[in-house]
Amino acid sequence: MVKTTISVIKADVGSVAGHHRPHKKMLDYAKQKLAEAKESGLIKSFYVYHVGDDIGLVMTHHKGENNPEIHKLAWDTFKEITDKISKPLKLYGAGQDLLKEAFSGNVKGMGPGVAELEFEERKSDPIVVFAADKTEPGAWNLPLYKIFADPFNTAGLIIDPSLHDGFIFEVMDLKEGKVVRLKAPEESYDILGLLGTPGRYAVSKVFRARDMLPAAAASTSRLSFIAGKYVGKDDPVLIVRTQHGLPAVGEVLAAFAVPHLVAGWMRGSHNGPLMPVSFRKHPIVTYFDGPPRVIAMGWQISNGELIGVDGTEPADLFDDPFWDYSRNLASQIAVYMRTMGEIMPARLEPAELEYTTLPKILAKLESRFKKVD
Ligand code: 13P
Ligand code: 13P
Ligand code: MG
Ligand code: MG
Repeated sequence: MVKTTISVIKADVGSVAGHHRPHKKMLDYAKQKLAEAKESGLIKSFYVYHVGDDIGLVMTHHKGENNPEIHKLAWDTFKEITDKISKPLKLYGAGQDLLKEAFSGNVKGMGPGVAELEFEERKSDPIVVFAADKTEPGAWNLPLYKIFADPFNTAGLIIDPSLHDGFIFEVMDLKEGKVVRLKAPEESYDILGLLGTPGRYAVSKVFRARDMLPAAAASTSRLSFIAGKYVGKDDPVLIVRTQHGLPAVGEVLAAFAVPHLVAGWMRGSHNGPLMPVSFRKHPIVTYFDGPPRVIAMGWQISNGELIGVDGTEPADLFDDPFWDYSRNLASQIAVYMRTMGEIMPARLEPAELEYTTLPKILAKLESRFKKVD
């Protein structure tokens, strides 16, 4: 049977009012470009979204993961938006995430974030795509562990025989560019040992253990490791397949009910709560350039196409009064974290800072430091 691939490729190529949100012309340009790609038969369906200042291209096709034509389409879209819209309008951070000049077959390692999942369609295949702004790929570590390994979150791990064998986590060492596969529940302490350092280790894929069915894929680039210096946080994306032998949509969403602290926020240098929001109403960042935000888009996949609630328009899964509870909690946590100013752990550790004055302060004070006996 022909397999279907979902590719989510995203980048920040400029925004209005600081790092707040993209210009409408940028989103219109991306839609036009992908409509042409659909017309030509390269992709089967698409959806363009934004979360904060990041634009995401959700594309379905039959060309598999890491396909050069699909990656080139995304790269060209972001490059053309930068040259034709962001730069002439002097948008903030125009072309921010395009770290390389020439495209060379794959956007991985060039700045944009990529999550891709190729699979054989089941009889019915509901998926959720999450996208976050003002944080890093390791922000998914805690919810992914809850979704696929924690029976206090996912009832199906206990009561559904088809989930009972557990899941395999592929964890990436972002610094070394290596992956390791570990099985939950047997190796859950080792998994948590790695996931506890989200700036270094992030989940790249999840498979169902009994048949290696692909269950989830996340973007795992770290811009700073590519550029060799601090260039902002990566604002990651995550694809999760659900239901019928996988965690239910409601179990997947439940992992976001209590906003956990993630690295990013103002100047990419602070810990803040991840706030779940409607992508129609609040895919924006304001308070201290945040708090960090996550949106959830739901579709069915049918014969290689995204089926939303109206065409490819997805279900807006955090648009429910229930999530006001989480948003209020996130607001309280955000204000509380700000009472600590630039004292860790509110501020990130020195190696994670976008800019630091510390070496200058140390140089200035060098002669004034006195040895103690
Ligand atoms: P500026 O130094 O240009 O104000 O940038 C601050 C910031 O938003 C870092 O990304
Ligand atoms: P982005 O990584 O979303 O561009 O945000 C950068 C920043 O410095 C926000 O304060
Ligand atoms: Mg930005
Ligand atoms: Mg961003």
